[in-house]
Amino acid sequence: MSAEIDPVKVMKQEVGKAAAALVKSGTIVGLGTGSTTAYAIEYLGKRIQSGELTDIKGIPTSFQAEVLAKQYGIPLTTLDAVDHIDIAIDGADEVDPQKNLIKGGGAAHTREKIVDALAEQFVVVVDGNKLVDRLGSTFLLPVEVIPMAIAPVMRAIEKLGGKPELRMGIRKAGPVITDQGNMVIDVKFDSIDNPAELEKTLNNIPGVLENGLFVGVADVILVGEVKDGQPSVREI
Ligand code: 5RP
Repeated sequence: MSAEIDPVKVMKQEVGKAAAALVKSGTIVGLGTGSTTAYAIEYLGKRIQSGELTDIKGIPTSFQAEVLAKQYGIPLTTLDAVDHIDIAIDGADEVDPQKNLIKGGGAAHTREKIVDALAEQFVVVVDGNKLVDRLGSTFLLPVEVIPMAIAPVMRAIEKLGGKPELRMGIRKAGPVITDQGNMVIDVKFDSIDNPAELEKTLNNIPGVLENGLFVGVADVILVGEVKDGQPSVREI
């Protein structure tokens, strides 16, 4: 019996490989979070192990990225030890035609925004299902909140017209706790007309650490696709 090919997995693998191929020797690389970036980290590690890439330093955006980088032999550094990041590779939950993003499906958007925004080149890796005409149409907007402020932040978000829900753990009782020890509220907005303004407004609510709107941060979007059984990667 032949194993079924999962087209989404193939798209993620191909786009991860394409992003890892962009990395040059002697560079500092932001390592994103999520299942697509995991393939980029794997292929980056393979290039280092084969000797094709030398003198790479990775900056992880999450505990997950750190564990994967160690597993695939990517040397790590911290933002204290470097004065720039050459390239960051990271996934996204939605991408609009202006290259604005919603991120935070893995609750890592706070560290991701720090690292991705610092990078001279931020490369986003997504499968074709992540492209939307308008942000918020398929994915709730994640907002990281300091635990003591959950109730007032939810009320403030409701006043802005959002419908907030506390993200709950899977195979863990209670709420999701981020790598920083905070909680995540996922917010449904009927329509996000001005992502830049909403990003600032949400971050201005006392108790909000960071939200998942990434406006004007992405430089390159690599999209993995499968057409007629053939995987391909295109840049937008
Ligand atoms: C984590 C993120 C991820 O990059 C985003 O959720 C995409 O993940 P995946 O590649 O698994 O679909 O923002 O906070």
